[in-house]
Amino acid sequence: MLPPPPPLMLLPLLLLLLAASSFAAANAKATPPSATAAAGARAGSPAPVPTPWPEQFHAVIFTNLTESGARLQLIDLYYDWPKGRNLNLIHNQLSGDPTYDVEWTNGTSYVFNSASCRTIRFPVGILPPDWLADGAVYLGREHVDGFDCHLWTKVDFIWYYEEVDTGRPVRWNFFNGMQQHVMSFEVGGVLEDSKWQAPAYCFNGDNADTGNVAADRVDVMNSLIRFAGAPAAAMAASFDQ
Ligand SMILES: *[C@@H]1O[C@H](CO)[C@@H](O)[C@H](O)[C@H]1NC(C)=O
Ligand SMILES: *[C@@H]1O[C@H](CO)[C@@H](O)[C@H](O)[C@H]1NC(C)=O
Repeated sequence: MLPPPPPLMLLPLLLLLLAASSFAAANAKATPPSATAAAGARAGSPAPVPTPWPEQFHAVIFTNLTESGARLQLIDLYYDWPKGRNLNLIHNQLSGDPTYDVEWTNGTSYVFNSASCRTIRFPVGILPPDWLADGAVYLGREHVDGFDCHLWTKVDFIWYYEEVDTGRPVRWNFFNGMQQHVMSFEVGGVLEDSKWQAPAYCFNGDNADTGNVAADRVDVMNSLIRFAGAPAAAMAASFDQ
């Protein structure tokens, strides 16, 4: 059922798109909760509405980058909407030095390990809890990872599987082949404030490496979901060019 992801060559296109300031402006618009219901009504039958994310959660995500970097990762994802932040604690296979990807809703991300830090500025903030509702297309039910799921896609950018019975996210796949499987999902799970603080060497002018999205494709990978909240029209228009 899952359509094959578009070729890797779309990634540079996407990154160009993300750099456009109009994109950021469009993404800042509030998401009407009725958007998906309206789309379903237009299609003649009411499509299921995606369950909004809880405002805070901790998920353990198994990430398969076989098709987009040839690596496997285990990621602790802390989503904290009230405090405007999102953290990916990335454990690469057989590596003892995890990478922290601390994303703030003002667009700044700090990506660091014990030795180095990179600051990236994105044109979009973190996802609101109802990010999937606006512009998602319902593709029906599918059995995935052993769970009975609803499947939605957003403009061939992300495929999102939610368990029918519980509304829990089970899996999401990106257009570039990255597959993320939700291994645990703890509603209300938070990480203590001190763990969000970027180390001093992120702010040292000599060592801190500041980049933008177009220059940092590898770092951008784990931040892809940050862009899934973009309105369908904006995304579609840019892919048509
Ligand atoms: C990772 O994805 C590739 C490509 O889809 C697949 O062949 C492989 O079985 C997956 N590996 C794991 C450990 O999930
Ligand atoms: C965004 O917020 C973070 C955390 O408070 C801060 O370190 C960073 O400088 C801010 N970025 C901008 C562009 O204001």
